[in-house]
Amino acid sequence: MTSRILHSPTSPVIVTGAASGIGLACAQALAAVGRPVALWDISPSVTEAAGQLAGESGISCIGLAVDVADLEAITGAVAASRDALGPIGGLVHAAGIAGVSSLDQLEPAFWDNVININLRAEIFIAKALRADMASLPGSAIVGIASINATLGNAMNPSYSASKGGMLAANRALADDLAADGIRVNSVSPGQILTPMIQQAIDHAPGLKDSFERHIMLGRMGEPDEVGRVVRFLLSDEASYITGAELVVDGGNIPSQR
Ligand SMILES: NC(=O)c1ccc[n+]([C@@H]2O[C@H](COP(=O)([O-])OP(=O)(O)OC[C@H]3O[C@@H](n4cnc5c(N)ncnc54)[C@H](O)[C@@H]3O)[C@@H](O)[C@H]2O)c1
Repeated sequence: MTSRILHSPTSPVIVTGAASGIGLACAQALAAVGRPVALWDISPSVTEAAGQLAGESGISCIGLAVDVADLEAITGAVAASRDALGPIGGLVHAAGIAGVSSLDQLEPAFWDNVININLRAEIFIAKALRADMASLPGSAIVGIASINATLGNAMNPSYSASKGGMLAANRALADDLAADGIRVNSVSPGQILTPMIQQAIDHAPGLKDSFERHIMLGRMGEPDEVGRVVRFLLSDEASYITGAELVVDGGNIPSQR
């Protein structure tokens, strides 16, 4: 039996939330295999991150300060990314906020903000990119969901809804965009050591130990362990995977510990 050697796309990718953590690790993993990256983030530090990545990798990268909750800003940033790098063949939606608020504390504006950043943005960026992606073979989208799409936590109904909604929405997009040869998948990280979770650990002594006691691999994950999986899903190595959720949690959901 022979195994085909696949030549993966080299088209540019937009990565949201790319100033930090998982988004930055995805941008680094993609640039490492020669894919130009448009790094988007609400933090202005994203321009510095893009400059550093371009310098280290020798690959074209741009950084754009954009609030993905703002639909007009999305339209402008898609055009600016295309102008700088050419037609876009990949999207990673990693921008997200933790959305910690129990039911009793929950306010409508808070709910809307979590949903708009974590979920709505991905859908409307995908809509703006459809023609680009349809024109480029091997185009693909990855949304960063969470194990909280599956696991219940009283402190984050809005976050859980945004991530569970992403799994469902990505299955719907996968069905629609398959007609254009575009694959759409979700990656659900477990507890990954990024600034987002570091804040929680810093404020709760013993939290890291309790996470690690439960995880089969006995440790929290590193951002690059998610970045490499995202790169795989954006490559032709994953040519028959669409509408799927890939859980990257070190054995968290399956654990009985
Ligand atoms: N770290 C974890 O353990 C973990 C687990 C599961 C899922 N996730 C998800 O992974 C993604 C990345 O999280 P992370 O852990 O790297 O956190 P992070 O805080 O390090 O990175 C998130 C990035 O998103 C950016 N961002 C926030 N709001 C934005 C907006 N409105 N517009 C543009 N950018 C915005 C932030 O500035 C930040 O750079 C999130 O969607 C998060 O929900 C993280």
